Amino acid sequence: MSNITVIKKKIEPFKKKIFIPGDKSLSIRWVLFSALGSGISRAKNLLMSEDVLATIQVIKKLGIKVKRKNNYCYVYGKGINGLKIKKKTILNAKNSGTLARLILGLLVNNTKPIRLIGDESLSKRDFKRITDPLTRFGATFKLKKNTLPLEMIGSKNLKPIFYNESRGSAQCKSAVIFAGMRTEGKTYIKAKKSRNHTELLSKYLGLPIRIKSKKNYDLIEIKKVDKIKPLNYQIPSDMSSSAFFIVLTAMSKNSELTIKNVNVNPSRIGLITILRKMGVKISFQNKRLYKGETIANIYVTSPKKLKSINCPTYLNSGAIDEFLLIFLVAAKSYGVSYFKNLGELNQKESPRLKLGSKILNLMGVKTITTKNSIKIFGKPDLKIDKKIVIKNFLKDHRVFMTSVIAALTFGSHWIIHDRNSIKTSFPEFLKIIKKLND
Ligand code: S3P
Repeated sequence: MSNITVIKKKIEPFKKKIFIPGDKSLSIRWVLFSALGSGISRAKNLLMSEDVLATIQVIKKLGIKVKRKNNYCYVYGKGINGLKIKKKTILNAKNSGTLARLILGLLVNNTKPIRLIGDESLSKRDFKRITDPLTRFGATFKLKKNTLPLEMIGSKNLKPIFYNESRGSAQCKSAVIFAGMRTEGKTYIKAKKSRNHTELLSKYLGLPIRIKSKKNYDLIEIKKVDKIKPLNYQIPSDMSSSAFFIVLTAMSKNSELTIKNVNVNPSRIGLITILRKMGVKISFQNKRLYKGETIANIYVTSPKKLKSINCPTYLNSGAIDEFLLIFLVAAKSYGVSYFKNLGELNQKESPRLKLGSKILNLMGVKTITTKNSIKIFGKPDLKIDKKIVIKNFLKDHRVFMTSVIAALTFGSHWIIHDRNSIKTSFPEFLKIIKKLND
């Protein structure tokens, strides 16, 4: 089957209620915590995307049994020290930065060499940000140019560290939390705000973690963990996947959308805050707490007019996976929008700040882009009158899906390559798009 999607028509107005699959960050973390649990853990609505399947493959390789039945997944945890590392173990994180970075923290007390590999995109991403703190705990690494493949030899004699996480990276923070769980003494992290699922799950499990929340950062203290109980969990829907449909509604005419049971954890809703500032009406309905996370139905309607934004940088981390979409909204709004301190975007599955700007330019929207900022000159009445081909983006799933949203809202003739990339995070994406006009 062809791996290209062609779109020639804008979407018609829609009024729908939709369900989005499970949260990717929580799904990966559930699998990892459950592998360390003493007994059987069960998850409902675990995301079945390649990143999560890669996580399941990795824990299976470490001797953990996993079963799936209907909408449930069962992990037969063997306890905090139950992972089996064979000689010459090779773990393949495929496209998943979250898996690759968290698993290193989790295995930091293993003294057999572990080789970690990934796909072409992951093999271009920075791992020094993980090997640096883990080296300070006592692990040793072999890697070239700070990228995968790498080899780690952990230590039985780990020393706790003080770690200053200044990028707003939840992956770095979580890797150090996992390493802290393996280490005698107290590990301290001063972490710029970022998604806090690892902390919330640790708290829910009763692990020895303490968090002091300050205005711009969190202070985290973590001690050695002796035992983890099994973790039964109903995974709520993914905010970053919901984002495509929220933005589609925000850029369409006369449409309204309800998305059920979304994880609206305050550390994940930067997009909502940004869109509200740009004039979109979004409300959370039936808001409730579930095992530390916040869940709600999201209701969004098409606005009359979109306003530009000078985006406050404190919102960056909470919207980090949504900026390609936010750039589209800025392109359709009145005035010039400005996003700064966004260098981290070029560290993702593809250099998204660069590619986001390139896509807007292809569409005929002016941008001024630096290494860490972008100015977007909005064109609310933009009419695209040429073919647009989106190709060579390191198979980045979010570039593909953002391009589909652009095609459906700006119109013209789009040829978008690497459709299979959606399997990474959101295999049902195109099916749900189709449902909107059924
Ligand atoms: C994630 C953290 C973020 C995000 C990624 C998922 C996580 O990455 O972009 O998609 O689950 O911890 P960084 O930690 O690199 O910001």
